[in-house]
Amino acid sequence: MNDVEPIGSPGAARGLKHPARRRGSYGIDAPQLLPFLALLAIGNVASAVLSRTAWPLIGAAAILASAAIGLHTSRRGKFLVWSDLLDQLALEGCERILDVGCGRGAVLLLAAQHLTTGRAVGVDIWDRKDQSGNSPDATLSNACHRDHSALGVDSVH
Ligand SMILES: C[S@@+](CC[C@H](N)C(=O)[O-])C[C@H]1O[C@@H](n2cnc3c(N)ncnc32)[C@H](O)[C@@H]1O
Repeated sequence: MNDVEPIGSPGAARGLKHPARRRGSYGIDAPQLLPFLALLAIGNVASAVLSRTAWPLIGAAAILASAAIGLHTSRRGKFLVWSDLLDQLALEGCERILDVGCGRGAVLLLAAQHLTTGRAVGVDIWDRKDQSGNSPDATLSNACHRDHSALGVDSVH
């Protein structure tokens, strides 16, 4: 198991809500689900055509809506929710944070922005079935997209 150790920037210390715009590239969670859902939706449309009934189209619409919600959650929703949760924690900046399953660093790097003297550590097995493009390099690259003056990357073990 590897870990990546970014040091946080003083976003919270500046009293900012949602301290910085999301930068970098964070992939899609459970990427193998998308082709599966697409096939399922196509199957439902084919069934509607063959059976000459509209009912399977409702299933297709529900499947596509699920895929859209999943994509939204991966790309934007989880960042909004985690920003709010981290704001609510009212961190002082000196905390030590451990993110087990940090992936490409979505939560880890948001949390690190609330730190000044504290430290955020991410641990992961970087499984690409769980997140597309998952790798320590992707996490480090995202860490480097942050404010260089306040955020450094110590090491990858
Ligand atoms: C859905 S991703 C979420 C990643 C990140 N927390 C985020 O919100 O973007 C789940 C992460 O958990 C990691 N993971 C799964 N099993 C793990 C384990 N036993 N130990 C550490 N990480 C694990 C995967 O590699 C993946 O990066």
